Amino acid sequence: MNNFEFKNPTKIIFGKDTIAKLADEIPSDAKVLVLYGGGSIKKNGIYDQVKSALKGIEYIEFGGIPANPEYSVLLDALKVIKDNAITYLLAVGGGSVIDGTKFLSAAALYEGDTPWDILTGGKPTLKGMPFGVVLTMPATGSEMNSGAVITNKETKEKLGMGGAGLFPVFSILDPQVITSIPQRQLVNGITDAFTHVLEQYMTYPAGALLQDRFAESIMQTLLEVAPKILKDASDYDAASNYMWSCTMALNGLIQKGVPTDWAVHAMGHELTALYGIDHARTLAIIAPSHYQYNFEAKKEKLAQYAERIWNVTEGTLEDKAYAAIEKTEHFFNQMGIETKLSKYTDTYEGTAEIIAKRFTDRGWLGLGEHKSLKPADVESIVRMAY
Ligand code: NZQ
Ligand code: ZN
Repeated sequence: MNNFEFKNPTKIIFGKDTIAKLADEIPSDAKVLVLYGGGSIKKNGIYDQVKSALKGIEYIEFGGIPANPEYSVLLDALKVIKDNAITYLLAVGGGSVIDGTKFLSAAALYEGDTPWDILTGGKPTLKGMPFGVVLTMPATGSEMNSGAVITNKETKEKLGMGGAGLFPVFSILDPQVITSIPQRQLVNGITDAFTHVLEQYMTYPAGALLQDRFAESIMQTLLEVAPKILKDASDYDAASNYMWSCTMALNGLIQKGVPTDWAVHAMGHELTALYGIDHARTLAIIAPSHYQYNFEAKKEKLAQYAERIWNVTEGTLEDKAYAAIEKTEHFFNQMGIETKLSKYTDTYEGTAEIIAKRFTDRGWLGLGEHKSLKPADVESIVRMAY
């Protein structure tokens, strides 16, 4: 097992009707900006719950943060923060609203000229404006981690940021919010959370027995509850296990002491930036090709995953490892997720070259757990995913 340090300061308030506890978590002298997305919270009752929980707290609102949070919209929110001397942020939404809020938390205290530099500068944010979260959709784990991904439509870029100053102070997780989520987003959430585990697991054996079993237990739980919530999102037992699995998949715990990959996300973000494909679907497009291409480097963990998650007991280590890739792709397909880029866009020719060039220009010359994937490898992997 590798050496590690672990600190996650986010307070989780989990369970039925917990949104009502909101005001207890926000300092009474705070001036709050409540941030939300395109309006789903006004239809499903979450907005009303938040409003009544905030009685006695001084707040204003900013709605309209789109999926794949857009830089230009966030700049409008930043102006609201500055003009109104806001001291505390509250994200009410899924990964996009939470990530947008993390960007604003950093940008509100940023002293440079252009906030976009936070995304290109490569410096971690060590101090941000404090913020809390009311999670409306499980998927990303953003509610209990310090990372964010921001989109710039003008330049067709999607870049990551983060740092120890960007953990939410608290996150309220009421699994009942799942009842209003459309099937497409539920399927996305399952796929995203499952792939988060894969990114931190599908590398090479590192003698981290407990981390492997944490990761496997999250994947097993997701596989067990996925059909249940897709059939009936009001199944509270399934919903609560689903929500907690998504959070645990990316709150830092399972990546401690082990190598991690994250190349699937790096390539996937480019497909969202170029074609607007939902985040989770980009992962389902890239992952099978990535595992095929890096078969030799990953075959031991692929085989372990085949045995423990998919109960593949027959054949050689290689046979099991191949079966693992097939089973994973089938799992995505079975939920209605296409795993080829050509199913999402007709103009896919040339995508591999564009992405490889972007990585070269950014100096991303070594991806994956061995930091060995060059832009030429990225080009091959993306082409395999056409
Ligand atoms: O905008 P509204 O109207 O609220 O509708 C949203 C949005 O259209 C809707 N929705 C959310 N909660 C709902 C609901 N609809 C009905 N009922 C509810 N209770 O769902 C749509 C998608 O929301 P979004 O927040 O975009 O989805 P998700 O949580 O999947 O977040 C995706 C974003 O997170 C980033 C992705 O790249 C993408 O930009 N990620 C963030 C990560 C992190 N910070 O750790 C890690 C991930 O790998 C990912 O990159
Ligand atoms: Zn993801």
